[in-house]
Amino acid sequence: MCGIVGYTGPRQASRILVDGLKRLEYRGYDSAGIAVQVDGATGAPPVVIKRTGKIAELRQAVPKDMAGHCGMGHTRWATHGGVTGENAHPHTDASGKVAIVHNGIIENYMALKGMLEKQGVPFRSETDSEVIAHLVALNYEGDLEAALKASLKHLKGTYGIVCVHADEPGRIVGARNGSPLVVGVGDGEMLLASDVTAMLAHTKRVVYLNDGEVVTMLPHEFRISDGDERRVDPRIDHIAWELEAIEKEGFSCYMEKEIFEQPDSIERAISGRMDHENGCAKLGGLNLSKKELHGIERVRVIAAGTSWHAGLVGCQLLESVARIPAAAELASELRYRNPVLEPASLYFAVSQSGETADTLYAMREVRRRGGTVLGICNVVGSTIARESEGGVYVHSGPEIAVASTKAFTSQLAAFYLLALEFARMHDMSHHEGQRFLAALREVPAAVRKTLAVRDHVQALAKKYCRHADFLFLGRGILFPIALEGALKLKEISYIHAEGYASGEIKHGPIALVSPETPSVFLVPGDHLREKTISNMKEIKARGGPVIALADEDDELVASIADDFIGLPKVDPRFQPFTMVVPLQLFAYFCALELGRDVDQPRNLAKSVTVE
Ligand code: M6R
Repeated sequence: MCGIVGYTGPRQASRILVDGLKRLEYRGYDSAGIAVQVDGATGAPPVVIKRTGKIAELRQAVPKDMAGHCGMGHTRWATHGGVTGENAHPHTDASGKVAIVHNGIIENYMALKGMLEKQGVPFRSETDSEVIAHLVALNYEGDLEAALKASLKHLKGTYGIVCVHADEPGRIVGARNGSPLVVGVGDGEMLLASDVTAMLAHTKRVVYLNDGEVVTMLPHEFRISDGDERRVDPRIDHIAWELEAIEKEGFSCYMEKEIFEQPDSIERAISGRMDHENGCAKLGGLNLSKKELHGIERVRVIAAGTSWHAGLVGCQLLESVARIPAAAELASELRYRNPVLEPASLYFAVSQSGETADTLYAMREVRRRGGTVLGICNVVGSTIARESEGGVYVHSGPEIAVASTKAFTSQLAAFYLLALEFARMHDMSHHEGQRFLAALREVPAAVRKTLAVRDHVQALAKKYCRHADFLFLGRGILFPIALEGALKLKEISYIHAEGYASGEIKHGPIALVSPETPSVFLVPGDHLREKTISNMKEIKARGGPVIALADEDDELVASIADDFIGLPKVDPRFQPFTMVVPLQLFAYFCALELGRDVDQPRNLAKSVTVE
């Protein structure tokens, strides 16, 4: 949720911190702050500057020539305490010598705060995080690392913490438990951040901290130790992302850019993974032998939000194409409902960020019970990816907009490959496998063609965006796409939208239909087309406006609907790819029309690292 960045080295720290926070703004954007040590003045409290609002506010407040070569910054997504300057990070102890930033939630902070207040410690904020600064100060005897480690023993909950002390110039100490922290190894400088986008402009050499680890860094060295004081040998990974991938590159916002990247990102997700000759998939990362895969009798998907929608599509495919029973579970539900783990089941944790707390904890629960969990992740080196026993990286490249778009279609691509992998082990023939692959290979081009609906969808957004309620309706494999279309509209335009199975509307939601409530129909090109057309007529008969998406040559659908979005014809099994794109565009243009902040919608954060 929140973003953290730390820097120690020869360059002006404030600039690197504010630029890094700008890159991390998608993780939280209600307030931000930095703390920078004063050069050559051992013992002088770090200078702290905090502002509510976007990073632009903070940037304005930070003097351009601010001195100091070591410090840290934080962009906040409020959990405990409202959006105020006092609650913004960094937090300091009473003397101001200790400064900390924190991601996560300290569950026992009330008890700790009570204990500290009894000792006369004054609190300035309503946050759970401030207790950390005071604990470190109380435990400090000339060694910041030791003081932080002693303080951690009192904390219950999750944290990524970074701290500095006035008496130790140039030193940054960080600790991780449940909230990601990555060390950036530069040339005579070190960085520490909650994700790699904050450091991509400075180094591509990184070390991912594990839970329970503490890092101490100076400009030329760093040391990692675990909870038992054992030194950890760092594994330096190389980030494959290019800096341009996190620039807007001429688009008005990241969401627009990411929607238009989809032909390429889907291509990346499937390329090198199609064995045309044998009509099967090549998924080397699953880390399961053919024999083990053959023994799998059912698949379970664990995910949240848009990733769950991809899982719902994936499960329908696994059942219809591979004849494997499959179900997608909301991670936040699975963890707490004492799930039965059936034998011969394979679990997939699906997550763009690889850091979603609900998904991570559900996956740990499954593993604790002996289940096998593979990951379908975008961010390489993320916690879910590292804790999975294998899996598929979807290679969408960095997704910055809060509303997930390209990661979704890449997750779909991974599921199509998985379905093929399983299908070819069971009933699917060589020839049928080749046909399936041929259709998959066409998807990037079909999505490119679909993007041509841009102007038409923009006009529809203008026409409809003042309506307060929408229904999104789909059947079969397009039902999850209806859910996804409704989620996209809700999260960035704040228009209320319900995703429903078209066949289900007459069981209740049809009561909502009126000239004020448009219905967006996803009309499949298969045996469900006629049933869907009947559902459209039911809505029309009750005066509800209908926007229909269907094959471009579907004249009947076009004649019934008030507005029609014609899409390139693809094998109906692959329609989720082409259907979702206009829905992403519709949400985007409605949000734009209504003057919303598309990339940073209210109340949301990109990766939800708290439960
Ligand atoms: O990073 P993840 O895929 O695990 O994130 C899961 C959800 O938080 C995420 O998909 C969320 O629903 C998006 N904002 C949807 O656009």
